[in-house]
Amino acid sequence: MPTLAAFQSSAHMVREIVELAQPADEREWVPQGEQIWFRPLMLDRTTGTVANLLRVRRGGNLGRHIHNAPVFGYVIKGSWRYLEHDWVASQGSFVYEPPGEVHTLVVDAQGEHDEMITFFIVQGGLIKVDDDGKPVGYDNSLTKIALCERWYAQCGLGIDHVQRFVR
Ligand SMILES: [Fe+2]
Repeated sequence: MPTLAAFQSSAHMVREIVELAQPADEREWVPQGEQIWFRPLMLDRTTGTVANLLRVRRGGNLGRHIHNAPVFGYVIKGSWRYLEHDWVASQGSFVYEPPGEVHTLVVDAQGEHDEMITFFIVQGGLIKVDDDGKPVGYDNSLTKIALCERWYAQCGLGIDHVQRFVR
């Protein structure tokens, strides 16, 4: 039986990630759309899982989409809602989105904050749909990695900067 030390030094061990979640350098936030940014924390190539902070400023609209696996969220700042539901997720809220859920995330005008920041763990893929529910695009850990590479190359952090979050 291998010793614990041998196991821990195995080339097959996946490296841990310890990062300041809310970065001091604004360039860490990757633009995703009008008034929308994400801050990658873990991008898993094999399971498709994405752990990230999503930041949406007032007026931002993530677009209608459907998930094929669960999503978990914790609201760090501000509030947001789905056009399809009558609840509002506010600072401190936990949100569970079951697979098959179709929704459109929006951030309304706010008093104290003009933006929301939510920690999301998104499993599997996200399928963008139109008003009739027809697929018009998709998003997953690989498209997120590609977005990060493009932005980090452009902003000066370098194309390889995303590798610290890739597993
Ligand atoms: Fe979603």
